[in-house]
Amino acid sequence: MPDTFKLDLTHRPRRLRRTPSLRRMVEETVLRPADFIAPLFVVDGRPAPDEIKSMPGVFRFNITDLVRECRALRRLGVPAVALFPKLDPRLKDEEGTQALNEDALVLRAVRAVKKAVPELTVLTDVALDPYTSHGHDGVLTAAGDDVENDRTVGLLAKMAVLQARAGVDLVAPSDMMDGRVGAIRQALDAAGFTGTGIMAYSAKFNSAYYGPFRDAVGSAQAAGTRLLSKATYQLNPANRREAIAEALLDEAEGADILMVKPAGLYLDIIRDVREATRKPVAAYQISGEYAQICAAARLGWLDLARCRHESLLAIKRAGADMILTYFAKDMAAALR
Ligand code: PBG
Repeated sequence: MPDTFKLDLTHRPRRLRRTPSLRRMVEETVLRPADFIAPLFVVDGRPAPDEIKSMPGVFRFNITDLVRECRALRRLGVPAVALFPKLDPRLKDEEGTQALNEDALVLRAVRAVKKAVPELTVLTDVALDPYTSHGHDGVLTAAGDDVENDRTVGLLAKMAVLQARAGVDLVAPSDMMDGRVGAIRQALDAAGFTGTGIMAYSAKFNSAYYGPFRDAVGSAQAAGTRLLSKATYQLNPANRREAIAEALLDEAEGADILMVKPAGLYLDIIRDVREATRKPVAAYQISGEYAQICAAARLGWLDLARCRHESLLAIKRAGADMILTYFAKDMAAALR
């Protein structure tokens, strides 16, 4: 009976899936090396690249090795890098003083990369978490019970000007304080850096998946000794309308690019922001997303190359114009 069964169908969508060339002709989303921004961790002095335990294949580089990595990325067609410093814990304090040191590690790294690979776009994070002993993105109130918004924003604006002076193309405020994009724009303009752009971490959620990154920059070391939840500034993962409102505020304050973070669990937000603005939209496939795929692949439970590709394709399909991902180098190599 089933072998004689016939449907009288006008529409048979499978016709266009019949051969590889037909499938390629109707493919709607294509990944290319230029879609990616590589986040890179930098440390002072350490001689050999130092692998981050919870992020296999991701290293903390000293400036010499960082420059070498940037050259390799450029050769593979990756257009941009985002630099994150890991400080010696002895340099951290309650106020994140080292963030305003004109010879700070990340500024030296920017100058070295811009000198060696000038055509590579360089981004830096504007937030205090690599610099504070408590690991928060800003300075605390006198009572120590919250991050103080306006005082933090004043420091971030100064930090952004130092980064612009070091030569970054885009500053990326990742702190989620109110009003920081506008304050940074004003400070940059006042200092003459009208050409330095702002990629705002606009919809940054209070995610449990940042864990491996906090190991990488050492911002988790105070866990348990202080309120470590960032819930008073990062978005509640339950909220969709609030995320759009945040993105639109950043746009109004002068952000050039709006970012959604994390990416893979927040594809609906990427789509919402894409539809709410005409600005370019970035998405950050964060450390925990990377770690999950790597861990399952190590156990032999998932295919690394295929999951990597699919996870990034989904982020682009959702509406991201560019993706920060720890897979940037491997993806660019695989796509060639
Ligand atoms: C902090 C910052 C974080 C990330 C980028 N900038 C973590 C945090 O908010 O604690 C996370 C990136 C990742 O997990 O890959 N300003």
